Amino acid sequence: MVVLWRLSSLLVALALVLVPRTHGWSKEGHVLTCRIAQGLLEPEAASAVENLLPDYANGDLSSLCVWPDQIRHWYRYRWTSPLHFIDTPDDACSYEYSRDCHDTHGVKDMCVAGAIQNFTSQLEHYREGTSDRRYNMTEALLFLSHFMGDIHQPMHVGFTTDEGGNTIAVRWFRHKSNLHHVWDREIILTALADYYEKNLDSLQEDLVGNFTNGIWFDDVASWKECDNLLPCLNKYATESINIACKWGYKGVKSGQTLADEYFNSRMPIVMKRIAQGGVRLAMILNLVFGDSQQGFAAAT
Ligand SMILES: *[C@@H]1O[C@H](CO)[C@@H](O)[C@H](O)[C@H]1NC(C)=O
Ligand SMILES: *[C@@H]1O[C@H](CO)[C@@H](O)[C@H](O)[C@H]1NC(C)=O
Ligand SMILES: *[C@@H]1O[C@H](CO)[C@@H](O)[C@H](O)[C@H]1NC(C)=O
Ligand SMILES: [Zn+2]
Repeated sequence: MVVLWRLSSLLVALALVLVPRTHGWSKEGHVLTCRIAQGLLEPEAASAVENLLPDYANGDLSSLCVWPDQIRHWYRYRWTSPLHFIDTPDDACSYEYSRDCHDTHGVKDMCVAGAIQNFTSQLEHYREGTSDRRYNMTEALLFLSHFMGDIHQPMHVGFTTDEGGNTIAVRWFRHKSNLHHVWDREIILTALADYYEKNLDSLQEDLVGNFTNGIWFDDVASWKECDNLLPCLNKYATESINIACKWGYKGVKSGQTLADEYFNSRMPIVMKRIAQGGVRLAMILNLVFGDSQQGFAAAT
């Protein structure tokens, strides 16, 4: 018994040590991205999404947008683990698909940009009819929706050695955190608490208001400009690493406390990235499911 107990506590300890870096906007970030996107769908895309969602989602895409984070440690889905991020060379502050989009074993395309391409082209078969059983279109939709959030989280296109800021321990106001998690979740939670009475609906309303007639109104058309998916994904990833360098890493040392000054200057950036992710996810879904026959030039 003692041996067994020892063994199991060893396993628990091992599991704790091996718990990998977290990836992706927090639940809140993904929910916001997906709610914004679903609100911008044209009728064809809206009904395709409804069709593909399992019944228990009640037609709400955002309820399943964190699913890829929940399953990424399951044996069956372990292959999806590298698809949540891109590691770029330390301090290079740039992104190149051919250099950076691979997993730690060097397998090409295994990064968040490759995954978005992959699941977008799988969904392009939807219009041929659901008799195509090569791919699980429901999963493709959930992966695409999640990864469009991740590619917009600046620290998901971060440096290799510090694992996108995961190994940079900091304090967020008074509690322990790390730089990656500050961008995944802390900034969003602090914003919710300080400005929105912890109400996600009010934050969503404010975000949508800011691109329908507020501060981002003039920019939103350029956010969704995209003829060809790959160059667009290069742009989104490049935006992220640039923000990571300029606003994420800059001036931050391990062990430091980040508080008001960091929060106030970074919150608007986080909000804009969430909005951009939502607008661009809608753009892709409208192109893929729309009846314009246009699709992406690179569609296969
Ligand atoms: C694309 O999706 C298939 C499963 O549908 C998977 O086997 C493959 O590894 C994926 N590749 C990328 C780059 O996401
Ligand atoms: C597609 O994937 C979903 C989520 O994993 C699963 O519930 C469903 O059974 C799968 N559909 C098929 C046809 O395999
Ligand atoms: C929306 O814009 C206002 C400025 O007009 C700004 O104060 C607010 O923080 C913005 N909200 C979000 C969620 O970006
Ligand atoms: Zn993720």
